[in-house]
Amino acid sequence: MSNPVRIGVVGYGYWGPNLVRNVDKLPGAELVAICDASGANLAKAGCRYPAASMVADLGTMLASYDLDAVIVATSAPSHHVVARQVLEAGKHCFVEKPLTLTSADAEDLVKLAEERGLVLMVGHLMVYHSAVRWIRDCIASGELGDVLYLYAQRLNLGKVRTEENAFWSLAPHDVSVALYLLGETPDSVSATGAAYLTGGVHDTVFANLHFPSGKMAQIHVSWLDPHKIRRFTIVGTKKMLVFDDMEATEKIWIYDKGVGAPEDAMSYGEDLTLRFGDITAPYVSLSEPLAAEVGHFLECCASGEAPVSDGRAGLAVVRVLEAVDESIAAGGAPVAIDGSLL
Ligand SMILES: NC(=O)c1ccc[n+]([C@@H]2O[C@H](COP(=O)([O-])OP(=O)(O)OC[C@H]3O[C@@H](n4cnc5c(N)ncnc54)[C@H](O)[C@@H]3O)[C@@H](O)[C@H]2O)c1
Repeated sequence: MSNPVRIGVVGYGYWGPNLVRNVDKLPGAELVAICDASGANLAKAGCRYPAASMVADLGTMLASYDLDAVIVATSAPSHHVVARQVLEAGKHCFVEKPLTLTSADAEDLVKLAEERGLVLMVGHLMVYHSAVRWIRDCIASGELGDVLYLYAQRLNLGKVRTEENAFWSLAPHDVSVALYLLGETPDSVSATGAAYLTGGVHDTVFANLHFPSGKMAQIHVSWLDPHKIRRFTIVGTKKMLVFDDMEATEKIWIYDKGVGAPEDAMSYGEDLTLRFGDITAPYVSLSEPLAAEVGHFLECCASGEAPVSDGRAGLAVVRVLEAVDESIAAGGAPVAIDGSLL
């Protein structure tokens, strides 16, 4: 058995503890050090993980401990600077979503990681969800026919943020899943949104992604909504699929419904028929997506293989987020998305 991957984690705020918990429990990892600029958060980490070293400064952690890889769970504005420091120190790097706040910064990290031969992975958690994996296999099997379009809703009351809008905060999940399931990156996006609570910070956003194949994806996110919804609907030429992540067990429903042309259509009004068939809920073995995500990072660090959500996947998502902001500012006008370096 190969040696465990020696891990340092930077950022022990709201989300970092979940990553640390998984690093600590996975057999392929050794939790060596935790770094946080906040003394209070570092103290919490120290009580929970007495065997790991607690460090207040990233430079000190990188210089003082023999690490193979670093997990970055600091807030998004710091991702570029922190991840750059990690890669320059020659460590594999996992960065929470979104990879960076600009595509120029994301490109910089992708190039740096590739030049140094280091793994760069982004925390697109949903692509490690067993239901999403199942859906991708289902689409590949042809059961749905050709996918025509999909839409995603991620709605709730809270958690309201003030430094980033609802699309940057919530939609990296939906954008990454849309790109993963459709297997392509969009060439343009148009979006509208509104900022009701904090000036300039959009609480509700509707974005339409257009793909080169003609497929489309609509993403609606909001933290100002009475419903708690996390749902994807995928419409294919043969069947339709709904993935409801709020359901505890039966998360996926397949609807054998569609519209077709009967072979013997004779006159106007008979050229299309509706088909209503079975509605089924397939069994999908569910495991914690975060454990799968961290486990995949460890495997990639050990093998050197590119992760499913590698730096390029992170860059593709950042480009969509950027284009959504631009389109909102332009009153919903379509904004082209650059597909180079992908
Ligand atoms: N995958 C998910 O479902 C999910 C959920 C929530 C948050 N996130 C992501 O996790 C990241 C962190 O979010 P959060 O809500 O935990 O933020 P947070 O502000 O609660 O925590 C960030 C922590 O990082 C520390 N920090 C910041 N800069 C630092 C630096 N340069 N050196 C050392 N410590 C530093 C802060 O002191 C703080 O403790 C964000 O990228 C966010 O988008 C992901």
